[in-house]
Amino acid sequence: MESIWSRTYSLRKKDALHSDVAADAAVIGGGMAGILTAYQLERAGMRTVVLEAERIGSGQTKGTTAKITSQHGMFCRSFIEKQGIDTAEKYVWANQEAVEEFKKTVQREKIDCDLEETASYVYSDNEEELIQESEAAGKLGVCASLEKKVEIPVPCAGAVRFEHQAQFHPLKFLDALAEGLTVYENSPVTEVEEQFVRTPCGSVRADSIIFALHYPFINFPGMYFTRMHQARSYVLALEGAGNIEGMYIGSGPDALSFRQYGKYLLIGGRVHRTGENKEGGKYEELRNRARILYPGSRETACWSAQDCITADQIPFIGQYAPGRPHWFAASGFQKWGMTSSMVSAMILSDIICGRQNPYADIFSPERFSAEELPQIMKDGGKAVKGLIKRFFHIPGETVNLIEPGHAAVVETAQGKAGVYKTEENKVFQVDIVCPHLGCQLVWNPDERTWDCPCHGSRFDYEGNLLEGPAQEGIHYE
Ligand code: FES
Repeated sequence: MESIWSRTYSLRKKDALHSDVAADAAVIGGGMAGILTAYQLERAGMRTVVLEAERIGSGQTKGTTAKITSQHGMFCRSFIEKQGIDTAEKYVWANQEAVEEFKKTVQREKIDCDLEETASYVYSDNEEELIQESEAAGKLGVCASLEKKVEIPVPCAGAVRFEHQAQFHPLKFLDALAEGLTVYENSPVTEVEEQFVRTPCGSVRADSIIFALHYPFINFPGMYFTRMHQARSYVLALEGAGNIEGMYIGSGPDALSFRQYGKYLLIGGRVHRTGENKEGGKYEELRNRARILYPGSRETACWSAQDCITADQIPFIGQYAPGRPHWFAASGFQKWGMTSSMVSAMILSDIICGRQNPYADIFSPERFSAEELPQIMKDGGKAVKGLIKRFFHIPGETVNLIEPGHAAVVETAQGKAGVYKTEENKVFQVDIVCPHLGCQLVWNPDERTWDCPCHGSRFDYEGNLLEGPAQEGIHYE
């Protein structure tokens, strides 16, 4: 399942790190947040090294819908109510400055990445909700208006429109920006100790270390696993669905997302917490909606994305944890990875260079929100401490009961194991305990993966790690 971005652009390869080097800053993670942060630091005169475990853009950046917008859904009114007007104002303006910074960067570096300035819309079938959202946006000083008609065929009472937003091809942008930086690919970080970052074949000694890898993988200090969960969503690229100019997102849990890229209409949705898709069928649900909305269109690509969700819906950007003055984190971007990446780059480069940033306080990981408590309790209840290494033997009769193309958690004398049987009757067996903190994994039939319901780690049916915070696979030994 390849995204439209990976299908339409090949990133240039980079060497792995094969020596011990020194730098002013080391960035762990070669996605949008990592590359943008390195770029901003280099512009400020800091020698910066980026370490990417696989290829740049190979994580969430390739799965984004690449909307560059400060309109994060139907959020203005609820944000003001929950966080207060000052925080809401800072949040929306940090993101609008990020939109403008993308445009400036593309212009400054002359990047050919199909950047288009356009409007974004949040639609709803509730007229009162739209009026209140429009008024709330006005209170925040946003250039917004209420539109009665939209160009997408969804039943709705209209939409709130934000002006001066943008969309682009994220991999074209990333590749161009990374060319001017020191980036090492296939250099997974195995250890971070004070001011040293180690990979299997080399290390970086740096004054500042930035964790820009979707999910901060060092559990203590920081304890980010108690403060975020992960969610998945699905995207289709359709041909023959016509053209739309704006970027759209609906209000509510079943809402859909729309944007155009050339001849493709991207339609996304069907969000669920990672590890909570036991029944499967998310792609089919999305396809059914697409068939109804755009009869006669043709699907050319489908893919999924994973996002870190914080309790107060504000990313964590700033010092990693008390007692770690040289470590910095950028995570918890919700569904808004593009602007959140740029906000991270702007705030972290300001902090590291000793400059004031007017928005840094609301994103600081050191903030504590009362909304975090229920999440900590829920996740803590699911975690099983004291992971032990187990050696499973699955009886033949149990395996026989599993249908081809299906998976099951089976009981053995040694405990539980996960078993997947391919359509060709080949059997793959994995340890079913998440190596992060010991939660039991759950089968995801849509993607044939074992997913962790606690903090969102994912593994393929052979046991290979796909997404953290876990740092190792679940291979059966
Ligand atoms: Fe934390 Fe699985 S226990 S991701």
